[in-house]
Amino acid sequence: MEPTKIILNESEMPRRWYNIIADLEHPPLPVLHPGTREPIGPDDLAPIFPMGLIEQEVAQDRYIDIPEEILEAYRIWRPTPLVRAKRLEEALETTAKIYYKNEGVSPTGSHKPNTAVAQAYYNAKEGVKRLTTETGAGQWGSALSFACNVFDLDCKVYMVRVSYEQKPYRKIMMESWGADVVSSPSMHTGAGRMVLGMDPHTSGSLGIAISEAVEDAVSNDETKYSLGSVLNHVLLHQTIIGLEAKQQMEIAGDYPDVVIGCVGGGSNFGGMALPFLQDKLNGKNLRAVAAEPTACPTLTKGAFAYDFGDTARLTPLLPMFTLGHTFVPPAIHAGGLRYHGGSPLLCDLVRKKLIDCRAYQQTEVFDAALVFAKTEGILPAPESSHAIRAAIDEAREATFQGEERTILFCLSGHGHFDLSAYDAFLKGKLEDHEFPEDALEKALENLKEVSN
Ligand SMILES: Cc1ncc(COP(=O)(O)O)c(C=O)c1O
Repeated sequence: MEPTKIILNESEMPRRWYNIIADLEHPPLPVLHPGTREPIGPDDLAPIFPMGLIEQEVAQDRYIDIPEEILEAYRIWRPTPLVRAKRLEEALETTAKIYYKNEGVSPTGSHKPNTAVAQAYYNAKEGVKRLTTETGAGQWGSALSFACNVFDLDCKVYMVRVSYEQKPYRKIMMESWGADVVSSPSMHTGAGRMVLGMDPHTSGSLGIAISEAVEDAVSNDETKYSLGSVLNHVLLHQTIIGLEAKQQMEIAGDYPDVVIGCVGGGSNFGGMALPFLQDKLNGKNLRAVAAEPTACPTLTKGAFAYDFGDTARLTPLLPMFTLGHTFVPPAIHAGGLRYHGGSPLLCDLVRKKLIDCRAYQQTEVFDAALVFAKTEGILPAPESSHAIRAAIDEAREATFQGEERTILFCLSGHGHFDLSAYDAFLKGKLEDHEFPEDALEKALENLKEVSN
């Protein structure tokens, strides 16, 4: 009988992260200083990040050793299982095979601790006492709160207002690990006060919350900022997902034709896909599919440009697909996918046609989430459910074509704190959001100012 779960021993856990930049013929465009428009150097980043992470941000080495202290923390929940979704396959009556990597088994319920633990470790090692961050869905804030507790750091989380209101239990979870959590925009920072002054009823956005967290970090001693996605070092830490999955697929005697992940800033997708894209660069036939919401369609409708990573323009200029740093997406339940930009590394790979991108409406995503819950038993996070939607569509297409197709997706998290969204869906109250073309046009106007 074929196994349902493929489990690695702790001793088989990868001991190095993978850096795809070493395998690219042409590197991604550099990140620029907004004042000089020159590529930024370590000194520009030193006020907000520790040197250990800055070195990883610009690293050219193919593999980077994972320090023992991080491996030890990873062992709390890693390696994570690779699961053959047999019941889902049966329900779909598909000719395809579907596997998923379950990152929802971490203490906080998502892939985010893979980088939170690493970031807290490097900060603590360099004597930092306090970290600030933003959180959209609450998953990243939970992960950093957990990691700060592991490495004895204080933690302040700016939580996007819509999530703060939709998910009060996430806040309690973060506070249980000792974090200080405020609704963003807040009155604690100049950026927050400015946004509230313009629109007191704003639902908030990741762009605004990042501004608040960065401002807090640069204006307080022994405090640094921590970002849960987008940057190279974050994707690097997340490659543990794909590296484990490769070993597990080998044990299963299989190899994916298509690798799928949802994309907010790009870290779970990158973490899963990059180690497989290494094989693609070496000639393997494989598709990588990124799934995002139609309400915040960064990769499918954004402009490729240099833009700020935050609303108050405190970050360097990132070369990425962007909806404009002032874009406030509709208040969809996949809060972790409400980001105006994306990882420059992934955007580069999209432009190099190594990644396909698809956008989905919120109700079709929840339809897929329920099919998954009813077959595989796990109530998935709304973000991850974008990947499930894409996987189901891939399986249906394979069946239609009469093809055997091996599909692998990243289940980036569970949805146990997203029950109000499920409640709304079950009661038929969940709405699709038409893509706000006019809001986008307005935000891209601001962008022109940046690019000129
Ligand atoms: C469960 C889950 N999946 C995916 C994401 C999207 O982030 P990323 O694209 O960095 O993986 C988030 C963000 O909060 C999340 O909580």
